[in-house]
Amino acid sequence: MDEKIAVAIDGPAAAGKSSIAKALAEKFGYIYVDTGALYRAVAFFASESGIDTQDEKKVAECLKGLKISLEYKNGNQRVIVNGKDVSEIIRLPKMSMAASDVSKIKEVRAFLLDLQRDLAKNNNVIMDGRDIATVILPDAKYKFFLTASPEIRAKRRFLEFKEKGIEKDYDSLLKETKKRDYNDSNREIAPLKPHKDAIIVDSSDMTFDEVVRYMARRMEDQ
Ligand code: CDP
Repeated sequence: MDEKIAVAIDGPAAAGKSSIAKALAEKFGYIYVDTGALYRAVAFFASESGIDTQDEKKVAECLKGLKISLEYKNGNQRVIVNGKDVSEIIRLPKMSMAASDVSKIKEVRAFLLDLQRDLAKNNNVIMDGRDIATVILPDAKYKFFLTASPEIRAKRRFLEFKEKGIEKDYDSLLKETKKRDYNDSNREIAPLKPHKDAIIVDSSDMTFDEVVRYMARRMEDQ
């Protein structure tokens, strides 16, 4: 089989990774893989099983009863947990912190590793997450670290929720964004940090189209 192309996009919460990655995936005809959805799926399954997502031992144990798969419908990723499509429910605000909780657990990261690598083995992928370039796909041809100030990211998330009809005030979103940044960057395993070869893109003062154009150009140049 021919070598597949992988594009890694890492960065903090609400930096715009998923919408940018989707646009690039469409432009280049690659599959977009949202790895955050996998951590959200674990968080959802643990919560549904009545487990406190901060209870590392219980979360690790519950993985035995969990099967996660990703399906693609018209280019959109669907997340299937034990046969049930959970793609919408895992987006609820309470799942964000819960996902950050379970992402610290080494058994959880090991559980999700092969799933992510298999997707990249069989498809050209644009994969977004926290540790894609540093751990999951260190040989990814293109490595980006997409970031923006916490204030801009909280504002973007606020507008995103508002559009979906979810009430969340800006101040609590800003607080949560900072807390998640702290958790994700300071955990022991696979902390959020740019790969040494990553192209850093700070989108604080860039429009969506500018970011997509800039990243597409960098991919075409290399
Ligand atoms: O979309 P948003 O930026 O809110 O978060 P997400 O990408 O859905 O990820 C939710 C949580 O999963 C993050 O806060 C991380 O703690 C964790 N995560 C991770 O540890 N590694 C990844 N590759 C992706 C997500």
